[in-house]
Amino acid sequence: MDKNIDAVLFSKEEISQKVKELGKQISKDYNENDELVIIGILKGASIFMADLIREIDMSVNIDFMAVSSYGNSTQSSGTVKIIKDLDLEIEGKHILIVEDIIDTGLTLKYLTNNLKSRKIKGLKICTLLDKPKRRKCDLDIDYIGFEIPDRFIVGYGIDYAEKYRNLPYIASIKE
Ligand code: IMP
Ligand code: MG
Repeated sequence: MDKNIDAVLFSKEEISQKVKELGKQISKDYNENDELVIIGILKGASIFMADLIREIDMSVNIDFMAVSSYGNSTQSSGTVKIIKDLDLEIEGKHILIVEDIIDTGLTLKYLTNNLKSRKIKGLKICTLLDKPKRRKCDLDIDYIGFEIPDRFIVGYGIDYAEKYRNLPYIASIKE
């Protein structure tokens, strides 16, 4: 194991089980004829997104957005910029945002406000990880994989300075 990895928080098997549960719940909550566009937030949510959509048992479209992130520091800048916007037209559609981890909530607050102004039918948020103690704004999260303490974590798509995204588990890192 990498010398900077502190402890494994969720194993490959625990993640897989949780992703199955989330997919099942999402499939249940939407109607079969809802036009659902699932939006993954790059790059962190890409692996979660890939696994999650295969556990969703209905017809969906997928798209991705990229926003400015922490860069190489472990602190939120608070400023959010859209680096890559959607390719699909979402007017009149149901939107499900898929995020890796919600920390201060500022990124998703900005994104949800932005998407809600595009005449969509409904918007929900699904995050694999949530750090509720760090929240700096009101944010309704519809689906949460795991609540985690205020630790900096990596793996399963989530990085520190662009490293560790390929770890099959989720781990905390020595800060
Ligand atoms: P927020 O705007 O503070 O909620 O930040 C959310 C984004 O910050 C997430 O999408 C992650 O990219 C990043 N982030 C927050 N906490 C961590 C962490 O513990 N490890 C890696 N990235 C994190
Ligand atoms: Mg992210």
